[in-house]
Amino acid sequence: MCIYSMPTQGHSRPLDDATDMFAAPTLGVCYYPEHWPEEQWQSDAQNMVAAGLSWVRIAEFAWSRIEPSPGTFDWGWLDRAVDILGAAGLRIVMCTPTATPPKWLIDQMPDMVAIGPDGAPRKFGSRRHYSFAHEGYRRESARISRLVAARYGQHEAVGAWQTDNEYGCHDTAISYCASALAEFRQWLAQRYGTIGALNEAWGNVFWSMEYRSFDEVELPILTVTEANPASALDFFRYSSQAVAEFNLIQTDIIRANSPGRPVSHNFMGNFDQFDHRPVAKDLDIAAWDSYPLGMLQNMQLEARKDVDLHRDCMRTGDPDFQAFHHDLYRGMGRLWVMEQQPGPVNWARSNVIPADGAVRLWSWEAIAHGAEVVSYFRWRQAPFAQEQMHAGLRLRNDEPAIGHGEAKIVAAELAKIDVPPIEQAEIAIIHDYEADQMSKLDGQTADFHYLRLLLDLYRAVRQNGGNVDIIGPHDALNGYKLILAPSLMHISDDLAERLAASGARILAGPRSAAKTRDFQIPEKLAGSAIADLTGFIAERIDALPAGFPLAVEWQGQTGEISLWHERGTITGTGEGQSETGDPLLVSGNRGAYLTGWVDENLMRGIIGGEMQKAAIALHDMPDYLRVRRRGTLLIVTNYGPNAARIPDSLDGEFLVGSRDVIPAGVTIIRG
Ligand code: GAL
Repeated sequence: MCIYSMPTQGHSRPLDDATDMFAAPTLGVCYYPEHWPEEQWQSDAQNMVAAGLSWVRIAEFAWSRIEPSPGTFDWGWLDRAVDILGAAGLRIVMCTPTATPPKWLIDQMPDMVAIGPDGAPRKFGSRRHYSFAHEGYRRESARISRLVAARYGQHEAVGAWQTDNEYGCHDTAISYCASALAEFRQWLAQRYGTIGALNEAWGNVFWSMEYRSFDEVELPILTVTEANPASALDFFRYSSQAVAEFNLIQTDIIRANSPGRPVSHNFMGNFDQFDHRPVAKDLDIAAWDSYPLGMLQNMQLEARKDVDLHRDCMRTGDPDFQAFHHDLYRGMGRLWVMEQQPGPVNWARSNVIPADGAVRLWSWEAIAHGAEVVSYFRWRQAPFAQEQMHAGLRLRNDEPAIGHGEAKIVAAELAKIDVPPIEQAEIAIIHDYEADQMSKLDGQTADFHYLRLLLDLYRAVRQNGGNVDIIGPHDALNGYKLILAPSLMHISDDLAERLAASGARILAGPRSAAKTRDFQIPEKLAGSAIADLTGFIAERIDALPAGFPLAVEWQGQTGEISLWHERGTITGTGEGQSETGDPLLVSGNRGAYLTGWVDENLMRGIIGGEMQKAAIALHDMPDYLRVRRRGTLLIVTNYGPNAARIPDSLDGEFLVGSRDVIPAGVTIIRG
């Protein structure tokens, strides 16, 4: 049984390690040799190299071919695939195959599957059918990982590793199984010491929910109405650490068997079901899988819909969503895009063809944000099983698909341009997985969406031509001129002190410092932890139904507040006014508090104003045109349906493209 320690922040790997060295960006692809006749592997490898690809990721779903029956192994095919790919000059990202345990293993240990929120066990027949808490499965995953790592750890073609595949995908981070319950009880005993302390922290007196011992504690599932949110928050914390512990077992094994090769995991977009930072601290590379068009569909259907953006960017994706996630994961480790959408996907509500140029645009957006590798998913479209309609770089008949040509162009451009390392930005957004959970658990309006709110602030910075680092609540704050902390539901005394001492201007709210760590209302009310900086304490919360915004005016600009508005005590200076007569923005000693979720134009104005106060240069970016600085390079991307002109304030030597950027076009300026 594992007892988890509390998460610590920062990378556990020494910075001077060889695995942390700067690498010029390159391209790669995800490949499944087990899906294709062996005679084809050689030409596939040669075609990859001819397309300008340097990396190939393999084997993440190959367990049933490696170990067809318990203890019976067939390594021959994988040995040959590794040799062929390596001999062609490709570097391999080798994966542990633990996202897809084979049927015989499930039959041996039927209780290893996760139990979903409906109380039912997850069935065999797709993937991710395991519980992170199951001790037997942890042992099995360690066993197969050790075998793979020992066999290929020293192979000269193996240049990097990936653990498992997309932890939590298909809602699998949390399991309500017996193993999780047993561990959760131990975790609580360690955290609280006495059951009395737990009862008090959770407020269990409320509905006679008090426990007499840790053995009585139940999981927050299938309760008559909502479970105590404090118990759900602790279960999220425990479950996050179960993921981190599972991952750590594999990273330790890989490092022991394959020293010097960086270890990655591929995280996802718009995904908040476990705290990624404790997982990332044990990795070298915080990779993610970028599917701009599928994600546009999913995000637009949540919270606040942007009909114009949805129409105008249907074939290019949200101009800020990918960028946001690049910055999010770059804040946790070296950035790779392990899976890049190459054409239509198969899993969104509707699956459109990307605009001509979009695959190249997405690749450059990733590189602009510091990506070392952009790896396309997948080499060739699969003819069978679940993802037949998902594009690859090659068609089923092995002709090149659209993405292939665009990847080739990016490779040729990368060969000509010297891409420098990325530097610290002037602006930071504090992003916190616990704040995200707290905002859900506190309800009030079903339409509040934490990541969407952060994305709105992030978008406003980009519309003003700024660059952002996304950091966690425990990360260092020095060097920033402006720190944005929207909906940071809990602000510890330590963080409040560090914010005050940071020297940066702070923009908090709405919904910042609203809860204690135990998920209670702070004695001095929401916002009090940072009221010295912002001049605002929230007393009354107006959680508005979607579609019924409040009118608001700010500096002669009119607009709307949707979903969330706070009214309270103002010790600073109020600016703007909502139709309820309450201020929109309150400025204190060292920053401001935004009392509501404002529309796009107001957000752009307010963030621009904060940037000016923090002495950060503004660039007036036309709709859907974005810029990101990477060292001396300015990389400009156009997500809109029309050509757009780069403002004159951005200038230098034009290396690629021109000042007028075509739809889905990229311009690169050195300056
Ligand atoms: C990812 C996953 C891949 C593949 C891909 C399809 O989420 O890691 O295995 O399913 O989606 O877009």
